[in-house]
Amino acid sequence: MARRNANQRYHDRVAGRYEEIYSDSYWQWHDGLTWDYLKPFLPSDQSRPVVDLGCGTGKWGRKLLKSGYRVTFVDLSVKMLDQARSEVEQMGCLEKADFRQADLEDLSTLSPGTFALALAMGEPICCTRSPVRALREIQRILGTAGVLVATLDHRLSGMDFYLEHRQIDELERFVKTGRTHWLTRRTEEQFEVHTFEVEALGRFFADAGLELLETIGKTVLPMRKCRDWLDDSDIRRRLARMEKQLSRKPAAWGRCSHLQVAARKTSLET
Ligand SMILES: C[S@@+](CC[C@H](N)C(=O)[O-])C[C@H]1O[C@@H](n2cnc3c(N)ncnc32)[C@H](O)[C@@H]1O
Repeated sequence: MARRNANQRYHDRVAGRYEEIYSDSYWQWHDGLTWDYLKPFLPSDQSRPVVDLGCGTGKWGRKLLKSGYRVTFVDLSVKMLDQARSEVEQMGCLEKADFRQADLEDLSTLSPGTFALALAMGEPICCTRSPVRALREIQRILGTAGVLVATLDHRLSGMDFYLEHRQIDELERFVKTGRTHWLTRRTEEQFEVHTFEVEALGRFFADAGLELLETIGKTVLPMRKCRDWLDDSDIRRRLARMEKQLSRKPAAWGRCSHLQVAARKTSLET
């Protein structure tokens, strides 16, 4: 087996407890919003295949299976895929699922023009060495007018870490390049992470043959810092209502760590 890179090493290590890390009231609230934002892009024809890219333990792919679609689960980490497969097996849905270990930069095991919808949630595009190559690969496997819904790391929010740690050289480099690395203490698991500026998104997607349909900031309300509030169902509902209004305001995106984008396949001029 080929030597695992830092990205695989990190994700392999956390795969067994990934679901637990992302299951508290904040993440439930966050996932509820994500699913609501996603729904308008679900293909009306359930016989059209969909793909969950950087699927992790398969949170979103499993929701798509439950909604009746045939789902291909793709991840760089074998351990993440193992978790996803075992969850899908417990659901009794293995016959509608396919599992592929692949880097988003090379999806050559998937046929061109296959999928009506591709999800890339939890920022896997940002973890590739070349997001441009990854996007071109995703465009290739989408069918005519197929849609990609992806989340991306928002550049502005990446500055906080360097400010908090008083790292002026790193802050300057980050502001200039938008490149950082996965901020784990284990140096052998630090891999490069790309971040994105809203102004550059249209061009970035267009260059890969994708037309930007929608941009949403996640989340405008800093609920990570007041998770306890989300235990109250009435408050949770009211906060979600406000969040949905705020999330589409460009002026509010500066507060968001992530951007969720939807983009449709167009033709790619070569
Ligand atoms: C933060 S997790 C998100 C998992 C899942 N999509 C979710 O939203 O719960 C990111 C996932 O992307 C995968 N990943 C990272 N870089 C990747 C790459 N270059 N190609 C494919 N998968 C990648 C990781 O192994 C990990 O499972």
